[in-house]
Amino acid sequence: MPSSTPSSARPRPEPGALTVAELARAARRALPRAAWDYFRAGADGEVTLAANRRAFARWPLYPRVLVDVARCDPGLELLGARLAFPILIAPMAYQKLAHPDGELATARAAAGLGTVMVVSTLATVALEEVAAAAPGPRWFQLYVHRDRGLTRELVARARAAGYGALVLTVDAPVLGRRLADVRNGFALPPGLAMANLAGSGTEGDHFGDAARHDPSLNWRDLDWLRGIAGVPLLVKGIVRADDAARAVAAGVAGVIVSNHGGRQLDGTVAALDALPGVVAAVGGSVPVLVDGGVRWGTDVLKALALGAAAVLVGRPVLWGLAVDGEAGVARVLTLLRDELVRAMALAGCPELAAVTRDLVGG
Ligand code: FNR
Repeated sequence: MPSSTPSSARPRPEPGALTVAELARAARRALPRAAWDYFRAGADGEVTLAANRRAFARWPLYPRVLVDVARCDPGLELLGARLAFPILIAPMAYQKLAHPDGELATARAAAGLGTVMVVSTLATVALEEVAAAAPGPRWFQLYVHRDRGLTRELVARARAAGYGALVLTVDAPVLGRRLADVRNGFALPPGLAMANLAGSGTEGDHFGDAARHDPSLNWRDLDWLRGIAGVPLLVKGIVRADDAARAVAAGVAGVIVSNHGGRQLDGTVAALDALPGVVAAVGGSVPVLVDGGVRWGTDVLKALALGAAAVLVGRPVLWGLAVDGEAGVARVLTLLRDELVRAMALAGCPELAAVTRDLVGG
């Protein structure tokens, strides 16, 4: 496949992908090779990338029967926001690589369907423009750069633009090695930039920017950040119970169990398998979210049964975006939402409060 297919010449999606996997296949056809590789890859041997998916298959469901499920409501309250369903959009860099509308399309789809988009520090649209694109609740994901002034400025900009929470990513002190990106010499194509970092000298340089992330970031910095955040602060990239307990003691408003979609430390435990230990350590004091490998509504049900307040989805959103812009993202979210509602009905859960630990075995 040529590496620079103009977006207007991309094949249209076949009408009605029924599953996330079908959308992934359509996205693969639509995307230039280097972009597909960047989105798909995990680190090194991709052991964790595969483990994230496998973990869901290992937890069987024990559906409840003879419950009135004539109405199933997947709605919830999360950190002060009312969400239509417990599936958020994970922060992901460089969305204009998937579609010319990039983050604007993702934000509109999320707002249209009533869920939260987490906007990446490495977005290709400035955070203020994403905020102006749609009215929905949204959070801002933060990478802390060596230049603390830059971080302080990003935090102030996110607050001024109405972002309801900050998500500090803590699993990327250095960049995981994704072999395809190295082989492809992955770089942002001309015309695309890290729009939030304009003027920092790092805008177009993927590996160069990652090198500016501060590998000395530590627990003391979390206190500093909480002090300047002005909005609830979540940490993303926790898999250990002791780290989760320490984050809660430091005053975070939420914990996101994640191994970065298998893109950082290869061999890390599957996100779903790390979830129960973190949930136990947090003890209900703050919401615990999880991401990594969610591809079906039943995956969401399992994560919630194991104690997650909500899940985030990553790559499926990029696949929808690549295939059909805002409508494609809306299609992914709708698919997952409808699968979840069907799974709730089939498992005897008219609302999320009924999704309890006994629904999964293992
Ligand atoms: C990511 N992820 C990510 N995380 C983050 O905190 N900041 C970021 O900028 C990015 N960028 C990014 C780009 C791409 C292409 C991918 C696939 C992922 C990680 C992301 O938020 C999430 O943790 C995983 O993607 C979840 O796994 P699944 O749903 O993709 O399996």
